Amino acid sequence: MFIEIVAEVTDELLAAFERLIPQLSSSSPPPSADELVDIVTSPATDLFLATDDDGTILGTATLVTFRIPTGRRAWIEDVVVDDAARGLGVGGALTQAMVDRAEELGCTTVDLTSRPTREAANRLYQREGFEVRDTNVYRRKLDG
Ligand SMILES: CC(C)(COP(=O)(O)OP(=O)(O)OC[C@H]1O[C@@H](n2cnc3c(N)ncnc32)[C@H](O)[C@@H]1OP(=O)(O)O)[C@@H](O)C(=O)NCCC(=O)NCCS
Repeated sequence: MFIEIVAEVTDELLAAFERLIPQLSSSSPPPSADELVDIVTSPATDLFLATDDDGTILGTATLVTFRIPTGRRAWIEDVVVDDAARGLGVGGALTQAMVDRAEELGCTTVDLTSRPTREAANRLYQREGFEVRDTNVYRRKLDG
Protein backbone atom coordinates (compact mmCIF):
# COMPACT_ATOMS: atom_id res chain seq x y z
CA MET A 1 0.00 0.00 0.00
CA PHE A 2 1.16 3.53 -0.78
CA ILE A 3 0.12 6.80 0.82
CA GLU A 4 0.51 10.00 -1.17
CA ILE A 5 -0.65 13.60 -1.25
CA VAL A 6 -2.51 14.26 -4.50
CA ALA A 7 -0.69 16.67 -6.83
CA GLU A 8 -2.96 16.44 -9.86
CA VAL A 9 -6.66 15.80 -10.49
CA THR A 10 -7.20 12.94 -12.95
CA ASP A 11 -10.24 11.09 -14.31
CA GLU A 12 -9.27 8.15 -12.13
CA LEU A 13 -9.30 10.38 -9.04
CA LEU A 14 -12.72 11.75 -9.97
CA ALA A 15 -14.05 8.20 -10.45
CA ALA A 16 -12.60 7.14 -7.09
CA PHE A 17 -14.46 9.96 -5.31
CA GLU A 18 -17.67 8.97 -7.09
CA ARG A 19 -17.18 5.48 -5.63
CA LEU A 20 -15.97 6.51 -2.14
CA ILE A 21 -18.10 9.52 -1.10
CA PRO A 22 -21.39 7.53 -1.02
CA GLN A 23 -19.61 5.18 1.44
CA LEU A 24 -18.98 8.17 3.73
CA SER A 25 -22.10 10.33 3.38
CA SER A 26 -25.60 9.71 2.09
CA SER A 27 -26.29 13.45 1.82
CA SER A 28 -23.17 14.93 0.21
CA PRO A 29 -22.57 14.47 -3.52
CA PRO A 30 -19.08 13.54 -4.73
CA PRO A 31 -16.87 16.55 -5.57
CA SER A 32 -16.65 17.80 -9.15
CA ALA A 33 -13.31 18.02 -10.93
CA ASP A 34 -13.19 21.77 -10.22
CA GLU A 35 -13.88 21.19 -6.54
CA LEU A 36 -11.10 18.62 -6.37
CA VAL A 37 -8.75 21.12 -8.04
CA ASP A 38 -9.69 23.63 -5.31
CA ILE A 39 -8.73 21.12 -2.61
CA VAL A 40 -5.49 20.09 -4.31
CA THR A 41 -4.30 23.65 -5.00
CA SER A 42 -5.30 25.21 -1.66
CA PRO A 43 -2.44 25.73 0.80
CA ALA A 44 -4.89 24.86 3.59
CA THR A 45 -5.72 21.35 2.40
CA ASP A 46 -3.74 18.20 1.65
CA LEU A 47 -5.70 15.48 -0.10
CA PHE A 48 -4.31 12.07 0.92
CA LEU A 49 -4.75 8.89 -1.11
CA ALA A 50 -4.07 5.27 -0.28
CA THR A 51 -3.40 3.06 -3.30
CA ASP A 52 -2.54 -0.59 -3.72
CA ASP A 53 0.45 -1.94 -5.67
CA ASP A 54 -1.51 -1.67 -8.95
CA GLY A 55 -2.41 1.96 -8.32
CA THR A 56 -6.03 1.24 -7.42
CA ILE A 57 -7.34 3.92 -5.06
CA LEU A 58 -8.34 2.26 -1.77
CA GLY A 59 -9.15 5.28 0.36
CA THR A 60 -8.81 8.98 0.94
CA ALA A 61 -8.71 11.56 3.70
CA THR A 62 -8.19 15.33 3.86
CA LEU A 63 -5.91 17.22 6.22
CA VAL A 64 -6.81 20.87 6.85
CA THR A 65 -4.18 23.13 8.43
CA PHE A 66 -4.38 26.82 9.29
CA ARG A 67 -2.87 29.46 11.55
CA ILE A 68 -4.90 31.16 14.26
CA PRO A 69 -3.62 33.59 16.96
CA THR A 70 -2.93 30.75 19.42
CA GLY A 71 -1.01 28.50 17.05
CA ARG A 72 -1.09 26.38 13.95
CA ARG A 73 -3.93 23.86 13.97
CA ALA A 74 -4.92 20.79 11.99
CA TRP A 75 -8.18 18.99 11.33
CA ILE A 76 -8.71 15.58 9.76
CA GLU A 77 -11.83 15.37 7.58
CA ASP A 78 -13.59 12.98 5.19
CA VAL A 79 -11.74 9.75 5.94
CA VAL A 80 -13.11 6.87 3.88
CA VAL A 81 -11.77 3.49 2.81
CA ASP A 82 -13.43 1.36 0.12
CA ASP A 83 -15.61 -1.32 1.66
CA ALA A 84 -13.57 -4.03 -0.09
CA ALA A 85 -10.32 -2.85 1.55
CA ARG A 86 -11.43 -2.27 5.13
CA GLY A 87 -9.82 -3.87 8.17
CA LEU A 88 -6.39 -4.03 6.52
CA GLY A 89 -4.87 -0.95 8.10
CA VAL A 90 -5.56 1.49 5.24
CA GLY A 91 -7.43 3.93 7.51
CA GLY A 92 -4.64 3.66 10.06
CA ALA A 93 -1.97 4.39 7.46
CA LEU A 94 -3.88 7.43 6.14
CA THR A 95 -4.35 8.76 9.68
CA GLN A 96 -0.70 8.30 10.62
CA ALA A 97 0.44 10.01 7.40
CA MET A 98 -1.78 13.02 8.17
CA VAL A 99 -0.51 13.24 11.74
CA ASP A 100 3.09 13.19 10.44
CA ARG A 101 2.29 15.90 7.89
CA ALA A 102 0.59 18.10 10.51
CA GLU A 103 3.65 17.78 12.72
CA GLU A 104 5.93 18.61 9.80
CA LEU A 105 3.85 21.78 9.17
CA GLY A 106 4.32 22.91 12.78
CA CYS A 107 0.86 22.07 14.12
CA THR A 108 0.71 21.36 17.84
CA THR A 109 -2.61 19.49 17.80
CA VAL A 110 -4.74 17.50 15.36
CA ASP A 111 -8.52 17.49 15.83
CA LEU A 112 -11.32 15.45 14.35
CA THR A 113 -14.89 14.47 15.10
CA SER A 114 -16.60 11.13 14.58
CA ARG A 115 -20.15 10.15 15.43
CA PRO A 116 -20.34 7.43 18.13
CA THR A 117 -22.21 5.16 15.69
CA ARG A 118 -19.11 5.03 13.49
CA GLU A 119 -17.65 2.21 15.55
CA ALA A 120 -14.75 1.30 13.26
CA ALA A 121 -13.72 4.95 12.92
CA ASN A 122 -13.81 5.57 16.67
CA ARG A 123 -11.78 2.44 17.30
CA LEU A 124 -9.27 3.47 14.64
CA TYR A 125 -8.75 7.00 16.00
CA GLN A 126 -8.33 5.82 19.58
CA ARG A 127 -5.83 3.21 18.41
CA GLU A 128 -3.93 6.00 16.64
CA GLY A 129 -3.62 8.00 19.87
CA PHE A 130 -6.59 10.38 19.63
CA GLU A 131 -8.33 11.11 22.92
CA VAL A 132 -11.88 12.35 23.52
CA ARG A 133 -11.71 16.07 24.24
CA ASP A 134 -13.99 17.64 26.85
CA THR A 135 -15.62 20.34 24.76
CA ASN A 136 -18.99 21.00 23.17
CA VAL A 137 -19.09 20.67 19.40
CA TYR A 138 -21.54 23.14 17.87
CA ARG A 139 -22.85 23.58 14.36
CA ARG A 140 -25.10 26.24 12.89
CA LYS A 141 -26.66 25.40 9.56
CA LEU A 142 -26.58 28.04 6.85
CA ASP A 143 -28.74 28.57 3.79
CA GLY A 144 -25.87 28.81 1.29
C1 LIG B 1 -13.43 4.10 9.41
C2 LIG B 1 -12.68 3.54 8.20
C3 LIG B 1 -12.03 4.69 7.45
C4 LIG B 1 -11.58 2.60 8.72
O1 LIG B 1 -10.81 2.19 7.62
P1 LIG B 1 -9.96 0.83 7.68
O2 LIG B 1 -9.03 0.82 6.54
O3 LIG B 1 -10.87 -0.33 7.82
O4 LIG B 1 -9.15 1.08 9.03
P2 LIG B 1 -8.12 0.10 9.78
O5 LIG B 1 -8.06 -1.23 9.08
O6 LIG B 1 -6.86 0.88 9.94
O7 LIG B 1 -8.77 -0.04 11.23
C5 LIG B 1 -10.14 -0.27 11.39
C6 LIG B 1 -10.40 -0.67 12.83
O8 LIG B 1 -11.79 -0.74 13.04
C7 LIG B 1 -12.13 -2.06 13.48
N1 LIG B 1 -13.47 -2.34 12.99
C8 LIG B 1 -13.85 -2.66 11.75
N2 LIG B 1 -15.18 -2.80 11.70
C9 LIG B 1 -15.63 -2.56 12.97
C10 LIG B 1 -16.90 -2.56 13.57
N3 LIG B 1 -18.00 -2.80 12.88
N4 LIG B 1 -16.98 -2.25 14.89
C11 LIG B 1 -15.89 -1.97 15.62
N5 LIG B 1 -14.64 -1.96 15.09
C12 LIG B 1 -14.52 -2.25 13.78
C13 LIG B 1 -11.07 -2.93 12.93
O9 LIG B 1 -11.01 -4.14 13.61
C14 LIG B 1 -9.85 -2.03 13.15
O10 LIG B 1 -9.47 -1.97 14.50
P3 LIG B 1 -8.29 -2.91 15.12
O11 LIG B 1 -7.12 -2.78 14.20
O12 LIG B 1 -8.04 -2.33 16.45
O13 LIG B 1 -8.83 -4.29 15.12
C15 LIG B 1 -13.62 2.71 7.28
O14 LIG B 1 -14.29 1.74 8.05
C16 LIG B 1 -14.65 3.58 6.55
O15 LIG B 1 -14.36 4.14 5.51
N6 LIG B 1 -15.87 3.67 7.11
C17 LIG B 1 -16.97 4.44 6.49
C18 LIG B 1 -16.70 5.93 6.51
C19 LIG B 1 -16.34 6.43 7.90
O16 LIG B 1 -16.95 6.08 8.90
N7 LIG B 1 -15.34 7.31 7.92
C20 LIG B 1 -14.88 7.95 9.15
C21 LIG B 1 -15.56 9.26 9.29
S1 LIG B 1 -15.18 10.02 10.86
